[in-house]
Amino acid sequence: MANAAPIGVFDSGVGGLTVVREMIERMPGESIVYFGDTARVPYGSKTQPTILRYTRQILRFLETKNVKAVVVACNTASAYALETVEKELAIPIIGVVRPGSLMAANSTRSGRIGVIGTDATVGSGIYEQTIRRIRPDAKVYSQSCPLFVPLVEEGLWDDPVTEEMAGRYLRSLTENKVDTLILGCTHYPLIKGVISRSVGEDVQLVNPAAETAAQLAEMLVSSGLTAPEGNRPAHEFYVSDAAEKMKRFANSILPIDIRETQVVNIEAY
Ligand code: DGL
Repeated sequence: MANAAPIGVFDSGVGGLTVVREMIERMPGESIVYFGDTARVPYGSKTQPTILRYTRQILRFLETKNVKAVVVACNTASAYALETVEKELAIPIIGVVRPGSLMAANSTRSGRIGVIGTDATVGSGIYEQTIRRIRPDAKVYSQSCPLFVPLVEEGLWDDPVTEEMAGRYLRSLTENKVDTLILGCTHYPLIKGVISRSVGEDVQLVNPAAETAAQLAEMLVSSGLTAPEGNRPAHEFYVSDAAEKMKRFANSILPIDIRETQVVNIEAY
């Protein structure tokens, strides 16, 4: 069985393109419909009812594109909305928290795992709960790094200011001797080098974006949803504001040429 329908992917903004990047690398034949909620970003400082409302609107929009599955690329939305919306949706939906947690829990040697993310993700305790379910003896140390998102969006990926902030944010994790660190926010894989230098290269960094793409590929196979052999993928990119900015960002990190990004009035869904 094969299915040529696109996969819906959404995030609070441009950061979820790090998940799209991994998907294109792993599943080059799959079509993607991406929605970035650039008018309402950041989700990381919002509350659960708001994030759930936004998520439901985006899912209604993606359903109009006849997607065969959905990836919640945003850690914050995965933390606050996934458990509820997965019961409401008729198609498979996966988030980034479980794949990232699974990789960390299975690969840590000492059982000491660090998690970094937005205030909302860290405040939700979702990574800690998910890791403990897989590995009850794990010790999880979490740290929110709210300034990393604007630093990445400003393009300061390898800049002394980002180095300085990494030093401050990550010190407690180093002191707690974590051997594995989950990059629990869409933007952080883009400053992986700075983070790795700050915590030390012997600390294993887990990128939930890559783990999610791997889990998605398995899920498509097991549910008979993979695109047919030789499928020529067509990708569509939508935002709720600032389409040009998204296009620039997408073209700077994706291995494909994005010619068009369209604005959607997401409040209408
Ligand atoms: N996409 C969000 C996440 O992964 C980061 C940006 C935001 O706060 O909305 O948590």
